[in-house]
Amino acid sequence: MKTLISGGTVVNASGPFAADVLVDGETIAALTTPGSSESLSWRDGADRTIDASGHYVIPGAVDGHTHMEMPFGGTHSVDTFETGTRAAAFGGTTTIIDFAIQAKGKSLREGLDAWHAKAEGKCAIDYGFHVIVAEVTDSSLKEMDLVVDEGVTSFKLFMAYPGVFYSTDGEILRAMQQAASNAATIMMHAENGIAIDVLVAQALARGEGDPRFHGLTRPSLLEGEATHRAIQLARVAGAPLYIVHLSAAEALEEVVSARDRGQSVFAETCPQYLFLSDADLAREGFEGAKFVCSPPLRSETTHADLWRGLRTDDLSVVSTDHCPFCFKEQKELGLGDFSKIPNGIPGVEHRLDLIFQGVDQGEISLERWVEVTSTTPARLFGLFPRKGLIAPGSDADLVLYDPKAAQTFSAATHHMNVDYSAYEGMGVTGKATTVISRGTVIVENDQYVGHAGWGRFLRRGQNGLLR
Ligand code: URP
Ligand code: ZN
Ligand code: ZN
Repeated sequence: MKTLISGGTVVNASGPFAADVLVDGETIAALTTPGSSESLSWRDGADRTIDASGHYVIPGAVDGHTHMEMPFGGTHSVDTFETGTRAAAFGGTTTIIDFAIQAKGKSLREGLDAWHAKAEGKCAIDYGFHVIVAEVTDSSLKEMDLVVDEGVTSFKLFMAYPGVFYSTDGEILRAMQQAASNAATIMMHAENGIAIDVLVAQALARGEGDPRFHGLTRPSLLEGEATHRAIQLARVAGAPLYIVHLSAAEALEEVVSARDRGQSVFAETCPQYLFLSDADLAREGFEGAKFVCSPPLRSETTHADLWRGLRTDDLSVVSTDHCPFCFKEQKELGLGDFSKIPNGIPGVEHRLDLIFQGVDQGEISLERWVEVTSTTPARLFGLFPRKGLIAPGSDADLVLYDPKAAQTFSAATHHMNVDYSAYEGMGVTGKATTVISRGTVIVENDQYVGHAGWGRFLRRGQNGLLR
């Protein structure tokens, strides 16, 4: 099957240019000059031509941080791999990397097997896994090497959530040393969970149970402190470090210093930290529960710091941290006690559109939009140049993006399996109109035309951005 995508503006991380894209089977065969004899002869031989005029043609977006069917606080995030990857596809994301979790007392292998079982035969788009190491022991450290050999080349550790996922500094150092020896990347949830738990207990004892106290008991200073500590531990171990869901200016300052001295430290932020704030967490009644995630939403003034970080490449990636819990019955578990509200915000469908508003508003360039949502996550997580690039030989994961299309986000129309939208009523400009996964159209005319099980597991290589 040969498809010609003609008349669009191709946007790679290197910049935009006019080109026709020829897809042969699952890969990109060629880029040709529109109207050239080469282009016309491809057109004659194509089985299908897609008119991309007025559209950007961008590499399918790579979301390096999602949680489908994730157990948390006695419940599960509500998107399955089937519903979540379909929603991702609607938004122009053609690859996700989800987190397989090592359960306490179990091996990494068992965690990974469990997540393979959830995802296999279900996904609309390609997928990979990171592994959350819940217990750093001699055997889990050894297992990290085996897991890397299977194409799972990144491990998340937590400085937060004592008693659940939390690791001590010593455990973190050991895992980092292992990563230094097997070329894996350590991903860090950097919040000082021990101190936070003290603040949480004190707030609850004072009767402060509303959602806004979730934010007030997780101050940005404690994210900055943990980020500093994680960076120093990685420096001692000689391991690369990736800070997940960075939300605070204090944490960003630590990343800036580390990168300035040449350390292999990378950080992602998420749309919720660029568009939402602690004012949402403080909404009337229990409404703020919809915005409970960790680290928490920060003050509106932080938005400018994070956009600057994206411009200067101190923040390398925007991922969603998609972790949807319904308002009814799930978020409501924390009525009167914010510490029982399941942590997480839905967003896998809206990342490209939200970050595109940054292009429209002059915060970042068009190519930077592609770089932070697609190319850099592909590079960092060992998927480049197969993903994150429009070039001959790359997977034909392509999005036709209409920069002028208007849409309004709403739970009534989104495709995520969750009963609210964190962006309800927000109007944006820009929309993925045709989404192609490995040469096959999976979304067109606002319809999903793919199928569950199309997406394949991706064995990933090493971090391609080590310094
Ligand atoms: O609140 C969040 N971020 N939930 C998902 C789990 C995590 O820590 O990434
Ligand atoms: Zn986290
Ligand atoms: Zn997460």
